[in-house]
Amino acid sequence: MPTHLAAVSPAKGQPFELQTRPTPEPGPGELLIAVKSVALNPADSYMRNQGLFISTYPTVIGFDISGLVLDIGDNVPTGNADDGPGLSFQPGITRVAAYAASFWRSCNPDYGAFQERCLVPWQHAVPLPDEKMTWNHAATLPVAVEVPLSAWDALGIPRVGAAADLASNIHASVGTDTGGGTRKKDEKQEEALLIWGASSSVGTMGVQSGRLLKEDQNSSFAAVYATAGLANIKYVSSLGADRVFDYKDPRVVDTIVSAAREDGLVIRHCFLAVGQLALCQAVLKAFLRIDEGGEKKAKIGSAPIVPPDADMVDGVEIIFLQPSTEEGERLEQFRYWMGTWLRENLAKGIVRPSPEPTVVGKGLGAINAGLDMLLQGRADGTIALGGDDAESLHLADQERIETSRVAATDVYETLIYDNITFDQASIMTGNVRVENWRRIAGRKVMIANNKFGQDVRIMTGDQGGDAAKSSNDKFRK
Ligand SMILES: NC(=O)c1ccc[n+]([C@@H]2O[C@H](COP(=O)([O-])OP(=O)(O)OC[C@H]3O[C@@H](n4cnc5c(N)ncnc54)[C@H](OP(=O)(O)O)[C@@H]3O)[C@@H](O)[C@H]2O)c1
Repeated sequence: MPTHLAAVSPAKGQPFELQTRPTPEPGPGELLIAVKSVALNPADSYMRNQGLFISTYPTVIGFDISGLVLDIGDNVPTGNADDGPGLSFQPGITRVAAYAASFWRSCNPDYGAFQERCLVPWQHAVPLPDEKMTWNHAATLPVAVEVPLSAWDALGIPRVGAAADLASNIHASVGTDTGGGTRKKDEKQEEALLIWGASSSVGTMGVQSGRLLKEDQNSSFAAVYATAGLANIKYVSSLGADRVFDYKDPRVVDTIVSAAREDGLVIRHCFLAVGQLALCQAVLKAFLRIDEGGEKKAKIGSAPIVPPDADMVDGVEIIFLQPSTEEGERLEQFRYWMGTWLRENLAKGIVRPSPEPTVVGKGLGAINAGLDMLLQGRADGTIALGGDDAESLHLADQERIETSRVAATDVYETLIYDNITFDQASIMTGNVRVENWRRIAGRKVMIANNKFGQDVRIMTGDQGGDAAKSSNDKFRK
């Protein structure tokens, strides 16, 4: 029996162990993939460390993969007329990116991403358009695409093209489609779609897909608004956001609300990729209104788990984003998200992997360290498992990034995780240069989503120099 290498999760809280496993054969509707690269997600860390979602050990976890189709089961599209246009999985030929399915297969290790061979339902996979996309870039796509597309469905926003189909098929002024969504045919463009935390992996793809929603001629969105850290504002704009706001600005909510009013727009739909739920609620609350037909609800689709003690705002619904728990429905969702939306937009070249991947290691043995780095906020990266481009990828990129961060600011950041805040908190320690301290203290030192209701800023250490004396004194007070 053929075997392959896997990074096996032996028990809750234990690091992965490299083990040889029997290679399974694909069942009906399944692909066997030779995994070339995996991308790391925050959930991988929680699963390894806290056993989140894991019902049985030993198991193999991981979500994001790219690789080559090695074998296919019955009823997998191979390019026949019945299979619909474009979807074809050919053993030994088709390169894919895929969303691993172990979560929906009771943690059966055959379906986890962190191994050299993985079984995947074909609906969870997208054939890559050409050889130009590297395995590492491709591995960043599946989760990043699935989350915002599931947001648009959950928020009831018609899929691109669906509003026009609806309008021509249904004479009534209001219609509903299975992708979610109702819209009056003649409804004017009047909304800005808000994407919070848009520089994150799922946020960048939220911007790209939001831009395509806006460009749909029947869309009610006239603009895509986004928030990001200062350093990423240009990048998020380049992906298609019309306005990008600094989420660390204490006046960010007012700034967004004023901008929308200036633009003559309302904000009723928000994709929270990462960040503070309360800030999204505050923006949407400013635009709540009573329509003739009753109250018009605003909606937030949240990628992060909604804290059980989160305050609710009347008229603002919060939906935690996850694919359907019903198997047939989920496969249909993924078939659209991967096999239609992603395949078509990659082929047209109007969607690209984002953000640029950071390669944090090579081989399955590097995944433990990669997840540690992710937990410490130092990387969100991919691990190359093999393939033609693997040789050119090494840890030097990561070292370069870390070195330049330190040199630019003379500041060492400490990340505290598993704390009472809902997100990670950064505390800056060490000497802060006089000329930099305002910028650094305002930008780097923040404990967000904490129990105090405000962002907390902490600075320790000595700024040094006479010129800084008064600011030192002020700060210490
Ligand atoms: N529901 C699901 O199925 C699902 C799936 C995947 C991920 N998720 C969740 O989605 C979230 C994002 O995951 P990801 O992998 O996309 O994250 P990521 O790429 O690691 O996000 C990192 C970026 O988030 C931004 N950020 C950090 N704190 C922020 C804040 N308070 N406000 C706004 N932006 C902030 C930072 O942007 P700047 O550098 O610009 O400051 C940082 O660069 C995580 O909570 C993850 O667990 C959920």
